[in-house]
Amino acid sequence: MSLAKKEYKRVTVKSLVDMKASGEKISMLTAYDYTMAKIVDGAGIDVILVGDSASNVMAGHETTLPITLDQMIYHASSVIRAIDRALIVVDLPFGSYQSDPKEALRSAIRIMKESGAHSVKLEGGKEIKESIKRILNAGIPVMGHLGLTPQSIYKFGTYTVRAKEEEEAIRLIQDAKMLERVGCFAIVLEKIPAKLAKQVAESVNIPIIGIGAGNGVDGQVLVLHDMLGMTHEFNPRFLRRYLNLYEDMTNAISQYVCDVKSQDFPNDNEQY
Ligand code: KIV
Repeated sequence: MSLAKKEYKRVTVKSLVDMKASGEKISMLTAYDYTMAKIVDGAGIDVILVGDSASNVMAGHETTLPITLDQMIYHASSVIRAIDRALIVVDLPFGSYQSDPKEALRSAIRIMKESGAHSVKLEGGKEIKESIKRILNAGIPVMGHLGLTPQSIYKFGTYTVRAKEEEEAIRLIQDAKMLERVGCFAIVLEKIPAKLAKQVAESVNIPIIGIGAGNGVDGQVLVLHDMLGMTHEFNPRFLRRYLNLYEDMTNAISQYVCDVKSQDFPNDNEQY
């Protein structure tokens, strides 16, 4: 069932701003490989994020810090080959943009040129303003990311809700306004109080896409493997699981093992 207000043959950064203006919520999920991206795109998602969460869900690292620019480009090009409609956003990984604006631009250009992605996402506010401006000046669309920014996990120390205190909430609103002013096309807000997220969404004209940020924002994003229930140890309150694939896949694979051992598989119809 589609609740789209308007059919978008191809979603662009402009479509997202139009969706916000018309009150249509934006759907966004992560994907990191061709097969999954094909399913996600075919199901009608608006935006696919090739997130640096690939470091966790694809490579098994504890944090997003170890994933490299080359690895992000590999994941992004696999996703790009699969899609017909969705807008593709690719995370600039930790260490590829923090040192200076020139390095940030070089990294963003590599992503765009080598993967064919449509835009990039960077974590942070005023401390990376010059890098964002430099990337935007080169004609590369930028999505911001505020609130819980997992690349700074060692600074925060925990993955708990951010901006509960007034000082941090004020800084976050200022950063969101700055990101809009310099030209970002959207912002991800991660794990902040719903009331604050709604206030941010109402104070800018660009779409605010939330994860753990309540329903007063302009769209929602989840990590695909979490919402499909392929991961099962990560259980934050904001996560809605639409399937329990961890259990279903485990059962299917156990059954296959049994069938091979018992010589039930392959049967007469499954051979030449
Ligand atoms: O990398 C990622 O998956 C993300 C989302 C959590 C927004 O940045």
